[in-house]
Amino acid sequence: MDTLIIKDLTEENIKKAGEIIKKGGLVAFPTETVYGLGARADSDEAVKNIYKAKGRPSDNPLIVHIADAKDVEKVACEVSEDAKKMLEKFAPGPLTLILKKQSTISDTVTAGLSTVGVRIPACEVCRKFLASSGVPVAAPSANLSGKPSPTAPEHVIADLSGRVDAIICAGKSSVGVESTIIDMTGDVPTILRPGGITLEDVISVCGRAKYDEHILRSIEMDEKPKCPGMKYKHYAPDAEVQVIEGKKEAVEKEIKMLLEKKKRIGKRVGVLAEEDMNFGADLFISSGKDNKEFAACLFSALRKFDEENIDVVFAEFARDDSYGVAVKNRLYKAAGNKVIYVD
Ligand code: TXA
Ligand code: MG
Repeated sequence: MDTLIIKDLTEENIKKAGEIIKKGGLVAFPTETVYGLGARADSDEAVKNIYKAKGRPSDNPLIVHIADAKDVEKVACEVSEDAKKMLEKFAPGPLTLILKKQSTISDTVTAGLSTVGVRIPACEVCRKFLASSGVPVAAPSANLSGKPSPTAPEHVIADLSGRVDAIICAGKSSVGVESTIIDMTGDVPTILRPGGITLEDVISVCGRAKYDEHILRSIEMDEKPKCPGMKYKHYAPDAEVQVIEGKKEAVEKEIKMLLEKKKRIGKRVGVLAEEDMNFGADLFISSGKDNKEFAACLFSALRKFDEENIDVVFAEFARDDSYGVAVKNRLYKAAGNKVIYVD
């Protein structure tokens, strides 16, 4: 398949991408979290092609994207007062609400669930594209299944060129981790996947909120988590990743020790940490000055380590705050939960 690469973001080209969606095609598009791979949400056949292009298991439901919060009732019903308040405060933005689905949303999108994830991205190019398609757009992240989510056009091109109809290129995603998913169908708003909207943010609007218990631990394959995607090994680069967590000085000492050990047996070692520790890593990538910057660079760093044939990556996690939960969740997954705690 020839893939149309759209770099010139004119109204006309964005309309062209909208037309492809209307006709049942696949378009990869930018959002402020990560790039998405979209198809019209009311077409079984179009949605099935997403799973094919990504190599994604079909028991993992997709999020439905719309250009404007006022259209939420086109895809969801029984939208609670709390859900409306959340949309008022945080939409458009890095947020997905789990709501009761409308019957027009295909079972292929929701993997047979009675609920649907609804998201209104903030990215301007994305909203223009969604508006021009004129339909709700079902989309997962635009990576091959099992690869880190794409946060730059070159990641999408590497994974999906030749497998989709078009790719809209609009620079780096600013948030860098996927949207916060909040289940709004129960008594207490429950965060199923942490992201740019934090627990405190939700509490500030709804007065209460909690994390789903699965967020920071591994999911056994025979468990049935509320957010089906959580059971898959996501975000895993080819390199082995180890998270070193604890107080900064202790973490850095541990990384130095582990790095020297690996170097002695001839491994190529990567370090992802706040400051260049200059211990002779083959590739050092800075995790920035805070967890927001860490989130923004995490997925591209994981891809970079693979490009440079790194065997093992030591990742520092020393800044535990509510934004850091989103980073930690992705890091733990990348590491297959291999975490060393030091003090
Ligand atoms: O930021 C994002 O959310 C990006 C951009 C493209 O919007 N999308 C994204 O999609 O991360 P994806 O498919 O990679 O992750 C969607 C997650 C999966 O873990 C899936 O299980 C969960 O959302 N999900 C979707 N519908 C759900 C539902 N009805 N109930 C519970 N979880 C749901
Ligand atoms: Mg994904």
